[in-house]
Amino acid sequence: MKIAVAGTGYVGLVTGVCLAENGHEVTCVDVDEAKIALMNQGISPIYEDGLEELMQKNKQRLCYTTDYMQAYSTADVIFIGVGTPEKRDGSANLKYVYSVADQIAENVVKDCVVVVKSTVPIGTNDRLEVYFEERVRAGIRVFVASNPEFLAQGTAVKDTLYPSRIIIGTEEDFVANILKKVYQDFSAPLLITNRKSAEMIKYASNDFLALKISYINEIANLCELVGADIEDVATGMGFDSRIGNKFLHAGIGYGGSCFPKDTKALHWFANFHDYEMKTIKAAIEVNDNQKLRMIKKARKFYRELKGLTISVLGLTFKPGTDDLREAPSLVNIPILMDEECKIQAWDPVGSENFKKRFPEGIVYCDTIEEALTNSDLCMIFTDWEEIKRLDVHKYSEYMRKPIVIDGRNCYHLEQFEDTDIIYDSVGRRIVNGAHSIGYGVM
Ligand code: UGA
Repeated sequence: MKIAVAGTGYVGLVTGVCLAENGHEVTCVDVDEAKIALMNQGISPIYEDGLEELMQKNKQRLCYTTDYMQAYSTADVIFIGVGTPEKRDGSANLKYVYSVADQIAENVVKDCVVVVKSTVPIGTNDRLEVYFEERVRAGIRVFVASNPEFLAQGTAVKDTLYPSRIIIGTEEDFVANILKKVYQDFSAPLLITNRKSAEMIKYASNDFLALKISYINEIANLCELVGADIEDVATGMGFDSRIGNKFLHAGIGYGGSCFPKDTKALHWFANFHDYEMKTIKAAIEVNDNQKLRMIKKARKFYRELKGLTISVLGLTFKPGTDDLREAPSLVNIPILMDEECKIQAWDPVGSENFKKRFPEGIVYCDTIEEALTNSDLCMIFTDWEEIKRLDVHKYSEYMRKPIVIDGRNCYHLEQFEDTDIIYDSVGRRIVNGAHSIGYGVM
């Protein structure tokens, strides 16, 4: 089939490339000329495992352009995969979706199906169809379907080629059949429902996962107070298949471009309908507080943070991506900078992006060892494999005072047992911390 995809971010580009991998002719459209030029050289503008290889492999079936006419005029199906960032009030900003809709409306010359992959508030697809009706040339019909994506950054290609489910929201049988054809070579459970339910499935899924994380984080905080171990607690809970063992990893809080914005958007949307979603509100509050817990812990080790050298390991919101959106590092590092700490940061791929926001005041290190050298405290914000694999003795070898506050539980407690390293993780006892409890010791 001839497919156009609007937007070449995580959702749009990965969708386009994976559809090409499944034999479709795909044109990826973006307003950003520089990005298009890069992709035309076979280079991915985003860091995503396996993406560039698939771009190369399917280059005969892939085309990248800023020319709306070329992309939309002949397409059978047009996917919209642009961002829906949060507005100041927490609601979803649909300006990119509607500007793509304008471009499509101006350029389609035959009936087509527009498929919304972007996460949009419930009812948006219905409104978009009317929007098209009012704008396209006489005699042309644009049918709108909802087809939310469930890809996670870092595993986006795998999640798209082997999806957990395919959700098609449409009120028209023939539209459902067209989308079934698009996905005919994918093997996944398929649910055909109405557009509003499809839109709701996306928000309900993301917000449930965010809720699950905030829940386990609160249990972890309580574990710290009563001497229980969150890793064992989560393992014990996970044996119950009704609970499941995924997304029970306690930490410094969820970040990224999806959970923070989608929780706020659903909460705002419910409020707009005069309904308060108390569970989601709590998930958001717990997460905001969770992100600041490591600083609170640091203040228990040092009465004054001022002037300390702090090692920061991991800047991105999770491993496998160079994305910093809503990363805990973005909340914590400015606080440390305000305290006039010397920050030595390491991240395998996120430093360049971080440098764009904070060009000064941070020493960006090429190795973990360099980041640890002569520091008074280490904070781990991202569970990169390189950090998990590190020989923990290096903390005492390189640091001036080996105190490690781990926001991601990268290590087993036993690894620190016979060392002089104070290891304070999430929801577990502090190793070698006996003399520092009551804290304020340094
Ligand atoms: C998330 C969802 O997982 C995808 O299913 C969804 O399609 C996507 O949003 C989206 O809406 O586009 P993503 O934001 O890429 O994907 O990342 P996740 O792997 O879900 O992680 C989100 C955050 O939660 C990260 O900061 C991660 O460290 C944190 N997390 C995750 C935990 O703290 N604990 C866990 O057990 C799992």
